[in-house]
Amino acid sequence: MNVYKVGGAVRDRLLGRPVTEVDWVVVGSTAEQMLALGFRPVGADFPVFLHPRTGEEYALARTERKSGRGYGGFVFHASPDVTLEEDLTRRDLTINAIAEDAEGRLIDPHGGQDDLRGRWLRHVSPAFAEDPLRVLRVARFAARYAPLGFRIADETLALMRRIADSGELEALTPERTWKEVSRALLEPRPDVFIETLRRCGALAAWLPEVDTLFDTARGERLLAVLRRCAEGEQPLTVRWACLLQALGEDDPVEGLRQVQAINLRGKVPRDCQELALLTVEFHSAGRRAQALEPTALLDLLQRFDIYRRPQRFAEFLAACALIADETQDVPAAIAYLRSAADAARAVQAQPLVARGFTGAALGEALREARLAALTRHRDEAAPRPSA
Ligand code: CTP
Repeated sequence: MNVYKVGGAVRDRLLGRPVTEVDWVVVGSTAEQMLALGFRPVGADFPVFLHPRTGEEYALARTERKSGRGYGGFVFHASPDVTLEEDLTRRDLTINAIAEDAEGRLIDPHGGQDDLRGRWLRHVSPAFAEDPLRVLRVARFAARYAPLGFRIADETLALMRRIADSGELEALTPERTWKEVSRALLEPRPDVFIETLRRCGALAAWLPEVDTLFDTARGERLLAVLRRCAEGEQPLTVRWACLLQALGEDDPVEGLRQVQAINLRGKVPRDCQELALLTVEFHSAGRRAQALEPTALLDLLQRFDIYRRPQRFAEFLAACALIADETQDVPAAIAYLRSAADAARAVQAQPLVARGFTGAALGEALREARLAALTRHRDEAAPRPSA
């Protein structure tokens, strides 16, 4: 049996990038032999094994055919007579279809090294279409490698468009989709991810609500916001909130409904769901924070649960700063919100307890004390009349 390094580890080493995960392909072996050598299978009928010591993935060379719609519909053919070249041909991109043997020699039947030098994301063969997730993967690689000058080959973009048009993307499970999307949004150019999906029609399939923003100047603004998210190294929660926030601009109630629907159908993690919803609901109030009455401001702070969830409020402020346009003095509003939250948090329950407040009466007294603190905060922040 022969073992070769493949995929991202070879690609990233050739690009001079750090290699975080190594995948191997095994030619001329069987599942029984792998088990006898102490490898652990990753799934019941998937020909991939974990190395007993390093935990790295070793996959038997295989060909695969689609047998139906969606990801369940795959038939693998893994047997000792499947060659390395056959295995490389079933892979997605030429730059991901380079193998390296134990002596460091490269096996590159699809011109992956040429495409690395030419900065091309190009599919290997029509078998690309057998896994529609690859549309998202290519957009993700475009987002990652855009700073190095990579772009998508015309024929690959055309194939991505055909896959999107075929309706196959709808068959992807929310879990697989979110895994790609969350990684892509955290890449250096999340705007390139969204723009790529839009260009091939996949955005209309996956997030039609966001796709329609591109009928107006909002689409371009959204791309600029996502770019700023990456420049500011914002976490996923903020990037997700920024992606969806423009939905509520005309009609916040409808926007909120759309964000809710997107979150649910995408099985989006709770922290991302929450920040997106809160941002759509409150970012316009946040931008005019100085004009809010103390009661409205306190309601906003309570909705964010600033006492127990300070991080989430900080992320909301970050999102507000990122989506601001030049027409408003948003930094001043954000500074105001931050110091108002500090003022509300500074109110201690202990003195009220010492005065005998308990239960609902304590809650009411706390609210009154916080309102008083916010009123003082507003008066102190207001410009003093000149003498
Ligand atoms: N692969 C593929 N089609 C997929 C998933 C994976 O062809 N839908 C192949 C590619 O050859 C890829 C390899 O399997 O290089 C390993 O996949 P994975 O670990 O998911 O990605 P990497 O290419 O290693 O990239 P990343 O750096 O994003 O992990």
